[in-house]
Amino acid sequence: MLKAAQNHPFARLRATKHLWGYAEEHAVVWKTDRRVCGIGDPAAVIALCKRLAEAGEIGPGTLIEVPRVDIAAFSSFDIARHEYWSVLWTRQALPHTETDDRVVLLPPSEHAAIDALLDVAFPATRNRPGNDDIKRWFGIYEDGELVAVGADRSANGVGYLVAIAVMPNRQSRGYGAALTRRMSRELLADSDICALGVTAANTRARALYQRTGFTEGIDLTSIRLV
Ligand SMILES: CC(C)(COP(=O)(O)OP(=O)(O)OC[C@H]1O[C@@H](n2cnc3c(N)ncnc32)[C@H](O)[C@@H]1OP(=O)(O)O)[C@@H](O)C(=O)NCCC(=O)NCCS
Repeated sequence: MLKAAQNHPFARLRATKHLWGYAEEHAVVWKTDRRVCGIGDPAAVIALCKRLAEAGEIGPGTLIEVPRVDIAAFSSFDIARHEYWSVLWTRQALPHTETDDRVVLLPPSEHAAIDALLDVAFPATRNRPGNDDIKRWFGIYEDGELVAVGADRSANGVGYLVAIAVMPNRQSRGYGAALTRRMSRELLADSDICALGVTAANTRARALYQRTGFTEGIDLTSIRLV
């Protein structure tokens, strides 16, 4: 699959040991135990997904992630919810700045504090302490209080940052940028690429990631089938 997808960062990120896939001239679609993903020409990817659904290969409840198309392209599917988002990536760490030194590794004893922070700053995230895919948590303290967090969910040699969040009353102090810079530097020590996901509507975070070097990426549409 990775060969057919020309080692595309999104394909690398979503590859698992056991998967099946179909490759055509303009589309590669693969299915893991969690999702169906595709890359290539959006219309060709959707057409392939439709054929797979008709053949019974894509069942109820499946999460489908494909290059950005309007949700109308999925009119023949029974959709529970959808999201427009992007995977952004950088291949080069940014130079160190003073605020980066505020970022520390968080021990498991901080898991409750991380959860409490995410409940306030980023309630929608499913990346929480206890999620086995998460390798380590980073954070920033101010006056002894945990005020910013982010996590390393790297997979398949692709650095992947998740759950970046700053307490609302501590935002605009450079903490989000410091976390992003410092964590991407740490992950790029082990990977050739560091990626993250961000919704299309989150313009503030997108501007931050643009500033911190995440200038390449792929726009995606996700749908969850009923
Ligand atoms: C996105 C998010 C992490 C940004 O955190 P942040 O700490 O406010 O980010 P920064 O301070 O580094 O940068 C944000 C702003 O502060 C400004 N800034 C940067 N350094 C600064 C400093 N030292 N002093 C004052 N302002 C500064 C930036 O210009 C930027 O401007 P903006 O307000 O127009 O965006 C935060 O808004 C958040 O937690 N959002 C909710 C959760 C979320 O969406 N997470 C991202 C998921 S992908």
